[in-house]
Amino acid sequence: MRKPVRIAPSILAADFAKLGAEVAAIDEAGADFIHIDIMDGHFVPNISFGPAVTKSVRGYTDKPFDCHLMISPADPYIPEFADAGADIITLHQEAGAHLHRSLQVVKSLGKKAGVSLNPATPASTLEHIMDEVDLILVMSVNPGFGGQKFIVSQLDKIRTLRGMIDESGRDIDLEVDGGINIETAPLVIEAGADMLVAGSAAFRGGPEHYKANIDALLGR
Ligand code: DX5
Ligand code: ZN
Repeated sequence: MRKPVRIAPSILAADFAKLGAEVAAIDEAGADFIHIDIMDGHFVPNISFGPAVTKSVRGYTDKPFDCHLMISPADPYIPEFADAGADIITLHQEAGAHLHRSLQVVKSLGKKAGVSLNPATPASTLEHIMDEVDLILVMSVNPGFGGQKFIVSQLDKIRTLRGMIDESGRDIDLEVDGGINIETAPLVIEAGADMLVAGSAAFRGGPEHYKANIDALLGR
């Protein structure tokens, strides 16, 4: 049976000067997860924040932290994110040569292990590793920046991955990240996604709008 669709607002679009209050406000507005985008200026052409900032906002919500690591190498930093309060740690398929090993590191720390695919990376790359993943994150923009346009070709990949997950019989979340708004959210849900990341569309307009933003994205 299909899981209800859940939302993971990305604090990349929050006001960094008051990040704790922003996390509390988006939690209050109905976030299911807090999506935390970690960028290193090497794997992606932008720098965001790291484990210290992640840890500093941990006390502002009880919602699970969904940490999206856009860093290479990732392995040396996985324990720091686990220690900072991550619940899900998602690595990029393209960020290292030994994905299986990296997933084992995440799982050995008792965290859910996610894998993210860039727009050009095919679904089939996960064929032999389905038993090891708890979450698959489809990038529907090139990672690095918020506010980009949704890449329509990713809908086919979402459909393929939905089929692979159903066939595996395993409890694997299917998350989509990038350019999610009230037009694209229904498309990715129809294609089989059950977790939506939203940065600009969730944080648009300031805290008094967050609940309406989330409700609109979830079609309620
Ligand atoms: C992009 C990040 C996304 C980003 C989404 O590299 O992984 O999580 O914050 O931003 P929007 O929703 O504005 O496309
Ligand atoms: Zn992300």
